[in-house]
Amino acid sequence: VDRAPRVRSNITVQQWANSGLDLHVELNRAHLRESLERSLRETVQSGRLGAGALLPPSRTLAGDLGVARNTVAEAYAQLVAEGWLTARQGSGTRVALHPAGPAAAAGRRAGPEPVARYDLRPGFPDVTAFPRGEWLSSARSALMRAPADVFGYGDGRGRPELRAALAAYLARARGVRVSADSVVVCSGFSQALWLLGSALRAEGGKAVGVESHGHRLHREVLAGTGLAVRGLRVDDHGARPEGLEGLDAVLLTPAHQFPLGVALDPGRRTQLVKWAASTGAVVIEDDYDGEFRYDRRAVGAMQALSPELVVYAGTASKTLAPGLRLAWLVLPARLVGPVLEQRLLTDLHTGALDQLTMAEFINSGRYDRHVRRARLSYRRRRDRLVATLARRLPDMALRGLPAGLHAVLELPESATEAEVVARAAARGLALEGLGSYAMAPDASPPALVVGYGTPPAHAYTSALARLCTTLAEHD
Ligand SMILES: Cc1ncc(COP(=O)(O)O)c(C=O)c1O
Repeated sequence: VDRAPRVRSNITVQQWANSGLDLHVELNRAHLRESLERSLRETVQSGRLGAGALLPPSRTLAGDLGVARNTVAEAYAQLVAEGWLTARQGSGTRVALHPAGPAAAAGRRAGPEPVARYDLRPGFPDVTAFPRGEWLSSARSALMRAPADVFGYGDGRGRPELRAALAAYLARARGVRVSADSVVVCSGFSQALWLLGSALRAEGGKAVGVESHGHRLHREVLAGTGLAVRGLRVDDHGARPEGLEGLDAVLLTPAHQFPLGVALDPGRRTQLVKWAASTGAVVIEDDYDGEFRYDRRAVGAMQALSPELVVYAGTASKTLAPGLRLAWLVLPARLVGPVLEQRLLTDLHTGALDQLTMAEFINSGRYDRHVRRARLSYRRRRDRLVATLARRLPDMALRGLPAGLHAVLELPESATEAEVVARAAARGLALEGLGSYAMAPDASPPALVVGYGTPPAHAYTSALARLCTTLAEHD
């Protein structure tokens, strides 16, 4: 039986509901439902209750607040309708996974962001395929065998076990010329880039070149170190070795340009290395998805051409998971000291236990097996993307297919990227236009960067179907 409201005065009272969750609620007794709704909405908007948090059952909250159960049920229903909460049979009422952020609270947006059920944006692997069991086995054996010094402060370059494992792996799988001494383990490529940029800047470096299309974050990280960031044009053979005057470094994605998908032409690789040799500049090779090449042998690392001029950077963000925050640099000897000096100013070193687990994961052969499995699965997804588009939208072209976890899908000239992205969003599908990777507004024809690696396997078919329906609508 629902309990009747205990207080009916017209004053605002502050109450704490603590049904397993401390929840501060302000109630206006004359407008119980509205004030409860407002209070809960504000709790979510402000982030005091985080995404996914479970709310008390309506009966319990009603009991705590001394209001009728219906009052709570109606307030919950209203917030579900607005998208702040979700309600599912058996799993209770929760804060939505992507409720609107502080921008909404500041009044810049009327309602929450639409929640994308399907995601074909690039930049992610399928994180649901993370090999939990194998990682756990590696973590267990690594921890059991770990020397006590693992729990103290360590070498800024990282654990010797991981540096040795990476050196062997990178030489074998990516053709990198490497010794364990030249490896620095970092907390993600973005940190690696910050360390490098800061080291170059500290030595008097002034400017770095980046590909005209790439991650905005990486450009911002470099700019944040105080370097001027200049764009290099990219064509079908990769970055053009032009306009390099005055640059102290260039950041490139030679194996698979991000996001355009082309490989850097061998002639240009040599030209760029010669330029570095003649000017004292360095080339930074971002080998973010070098393991994923499908139609022929992997394109080997550019670093092998000249380990003293090319910094090699790899990451576990595509092969395993971005959440690990594990990446590695292979540095020319002269840059090890300057990079470590910057490291001292940041986090000293990456967490030792994950490093030991990763070392064990590689040495046990699990990493190779996982990469092989992932390669096969992404290759199948790519083939399905190609086949589905060929069947449903034969006029549309895909580029950048031989490698990686994404492809560029050319849109009809009459389309705009923003309009296609918005139409897909209305169908619950998140897409990304090529333009969002361009350094400056350019005249490239409209295109999407389709991250076919992103969705969980069970959602891939639906994601593709929504993509095709969205595109067909324009035709
Ligand atoms: C071009 C490129 N480089 C590097 C990375 C990896 O970055 P991080 O190691 O910081 O996750 C990504 C991941 O999205 C990427 O797209």
